[in-house]
Amino acid sequence: MKSINRAAIVKVYSWYAPIYNLLFGRVLQSGRVELAKLVTGNFAPRLLEVGVGTGLALPHYPGASQTCGIDISLDMLQRARNLLNRRNLNNVNLVCADAEQLPFPDASFDCVALPYVLSVTPDPKRLLAEVRRVCVPKGRVLVLNHFEGAGVWKAAERLTAPLADWVGFRSTMPMDILQSPQWQIVDVRSVNLFGLSKLVEIRNSHE
Ligand SMILES: C[S@@+](CC[C@H](N)C(=O)[O-])C[C@H]1O[C@@H](n2cnc3c(N)ncnc32)[C@H](O)[C@@H]1O
Repeated sequence: MKSINRAAIVKVYSWYAPIYNLLFGRVLQSGRVELAKLVTGNFAPRLLEVGVGTGLALPHYPGASQTCGIDISLDMLQRARNLLNRRNLNNVNLVCADAEQLPFPDASFDCVALPYVLSVTPDPKRLLAEVRRVCVPKGRVLVLNHFEGAGVWKAAERLTAPLADWVGFRSTMPMDILQSPQWQIVDVRSVNLFGLSKLVEIRNSHE
C-alpha cells in the first residue's frame, strides 16, 4: 500500500479546504447520507466522526447524538466550524487531533464513523486499532471508502498510486484491511455514483 506522510496531508488539505466542498461535496454526498442513516438506525448517543473535514456529514447525524468530529487539518476544521455556526448544530464538538493517537479513553463512543478517511491517513491499520479501542464493545464502526477495484479499474488505480502525496489520498486500498478478529463485518453495500464507494458496517468486539 502506498504510504502518505502526515505533513503532506496537512499541507494538501490546507490547500483543498476552500474548494473541498466544490470538488468532493455533491459527488460523494449520497454515501455520507447513507452512512448517517446507519448512524440513526443504530444506538449512537455518543458518536465520533474521524476525519470530519469540512463537516459535510454533520447535518445528517441524529440531533440527539453528542457528536465529536476530529481532524488533523485546522483549515478543514475551520470550515466545519463555520458550518456548525450557520446550522446552529449545538450537539457537535470539534477537536484537532491525529486519529492514529486518539485523545480519548477506551470505550468512549457508541458509534464511530469514518467517511473517506481510511485512504488518507498515513497508517490505516493504526487508525483502525485506535477506533476499536475508543468504540464500546458491541458498538458500531461505519466505514465509507473507495476500495481497490478489479480489472481495468485496478490497473488505473495502480498507475495513479504514486500520486498519493500530491492528491492527498491513495487510489489503492484493499478491502481486507478491515479484517480483524476483534470485530465482525455485518454488512457491505455499494454507494455513490456507479457504486464506486463501499459502506461497511462493523460490530466491535474489542474488550
Ligand atoms: C477526504 S477528507 C474526508 C472529509 C469528510 N469526512 C468528508 O466526508 O468529506 C479526509 C479528511 O481526513 C483528515 N485526516 C486524514 N488523516 C487523518 C488523521 N490521521 N487524523 C485526523 N484526521 C485525518 C484530513 O485532514 C481530511 O480532512
